[in-house]
This record gives sequence, structure tokens and C-alpha cells, in this order.
Amino acid sequence: MKGIVLAGGHGTRLHPLTQAVSKQLLPVYDKPMIYYSLSVLLMAGIREVLLITTPEDNAAFKRLLGDGSDLGISIKYEVQDSPDGLAQAFVIGKDFIDGEPSALVLGDNIFYGGGFTGMLKRARTHAEEGGATIFACKVNDPQRFGVVEFDEEGHAISIEEKPRHPRSDYCVTGLYFYDEHACDFAANLQPSNRGELEITDLNQVYLEKGQLSVENLGRGFAWFDTGTVASLANAAEFIRVVEYHTGVKVGSIEEIAYRSGWISRAQLLELASRSDKTDYGHYLKHLAYSH
Ligand code: DAU
Repeated sequence: MKGIVLAGGHGTRLHPLTQAVSKQLLPVYDKPMIYYSLSVLLMAGIREVLLITTPEDNAAFKRLLGDGSDLGISIKYEVQDSPDGLAQAFVIGKDFIDGEPSALVLGDNIFYGGGFTGMLKRARTHAEEGGATIFACKVNDPQRFGVVEFDEEGHAISIEEKPRHPRSDYCVTGLYFYDEHACDFAANLQPSNRGELEITDLNQVYLEKGQLSVENLGRGFAWFDTGTVASLANAAEFIRVVEYHTGVKVGSIEEIAYRSGWISRAQLLELASRSDKTDYGHYLKHLAYSH
């Protein structure tokens, strides 16, 4: 299974923060934003990743993550010339995906909560067997998002992008698992009224085929899209408090690589030494010496 992190866009809702720096490289407490979304793919056991960025920001992401070999994974890069829609990831990523099932995560989304790895496993299996999975979260302002409506048994019955009159309070988060047909379906999508290839339209294709599963993130699950200054600050504060109280890091790609057996203890220590002046580096070092 292949994974795509979509990290393009102009980040205009965060200006002037993002005037010179890509949004997905901004700090969310102790690590760059992109760590959180990339960690979701790694938690799903995905080791072949495509990172899509703006042309201007590509070099900075490469400086941060390289070819992925430090983490025992492969990271390839593509650029998106202009933000023409989330589903364009499957046009740009067609050769990379190469007829396999895939997962897409938006580089500005953060997920934290119990049972998540089980949900990722189910989504992966569903994509490998044929179908798609999206992840829904109850929100106060559904009109800002893709919105999914359920029947009484919890099956999706409609999905709409930023509806004026939402049919439910459940928004579609920026994480999507698809079977091997996603690129073909994306190639046939038409731009929406706002001129974008909408991920909601791709999900609609699966819904109409009766192949769209929805995982409800549920009570107690924290999901953030860090699209505004307030939500970015909230996410950073949330991560700080959770890490302080639990003593574990959220979204540590090095930790996941190590625990997954993709890198050795010596490699983890080498990564830790790059941040030896910070709590983050100390955490990785401690991890290498614990059982
Ligand atoms: O975060 C979840 C929401 O993401 C979903 O509920 C919506 O269904 C989905 O359309 C999307 O809505 P947003 O309004 O948040 O999309 P936005 O245009 O802000 O893009 C999300 C991120 O993806 C943002 O960091 C920029 C990046 N992006 C966006 C577009 C349109 C790209 O990299 N390329 C693009 O073409």
C-alpha cells in the first residue's frame, strides 16, 4: 500500500505566518506540523510515501525528511503547481501509486485518540479488499468541512462539501483510504464550481458503489485541522499538555519507525543526537535505552 501526504496550498488563512514558510512546516509545539500527518501513514504500516508540496517549498521538505532512509522508509516528492483540489493528489501521484491501494492524508491534519491503530488497520484491509474508508468527527461548525450523513445503522448515505445546510454534525477529516481504482476515478472527475478537483466527489464515487466505509472517531478523540491561527494555537497547546501529562510524544515519526522495527537502536540514537539540545532528542535517546 502507498501513502500520499498532501502539503501544498498557499496557507493564506495563516498570513503572515505562512508568507515565507510552508504551513505544514510550522511548529505544532515541539515538532513540524508535517510530522503528525506523516506519522498517521507510518502507523498504518505504510513505508512508501509521496510528499506533494508547492514548487517553492519542496526543497525545505527535502531538507527536513530527505529520502526517508533515516526512518527506514521511502519518501518521494512531487510538486503541485497550484492548489487545484485535494483529489489532484491522485492525478499527480498516479505513477507513484502504480495500481496499488493507497491512503491520502492532508499535511495540516492532526489525529490523537484511543483505538486509532485499529481503525487504520481496518481501513487498510478494506482498501486492499476493495473499497474506501473515510474518518468522521463530530464538530460544531460542519459547514466549514465535508459533511457525511449516516443512516440509523451508521452507514453513510450522503456526503457534501461545505454545505450551507449540513445534514449532520459529522465532518469528513483529511484522511482517506482507497482501493486500487482511486487514480482512475480521479482522472474522470470534473472541477467543482470553485474550480477544484474535490475529494468529496471521489468519495461520492465510492458511496454510489456502496463501497464507502466510515470510521467514526468518536467521543474522546481529538482531531485538529490547523487551518486558522486559533486552531493552530489550540493544537500546539493540546499536544503540549498531552505530552507533559502522559510522558509520551504524539506524532514522533522516529519513534514509530523504531517501534516498527524499521530502524535499529544505533540509527535511533543517531537521529536523537541531531536534537540533543532539546527534550525531543532526549526522549528519543531514552526510548533507545528502554525496553
Ligand atoms: O480538513 C478536512 C477538510 O479538508 C475536509 O472536511 C474537506 O472535505 C476537504 O475539502 C478539506 O477542506 P479544507 O477547506 O480544509 O481544504 P483546504 O482547501 O483548506 O485544503 C486542506 C489542506 O490541503 C491545506 O493545508 C492546503 C492543502 N491543499 C489544498 C488544496 C485545495 C493542497 O495541498 N492542495 C490543494 O489543491
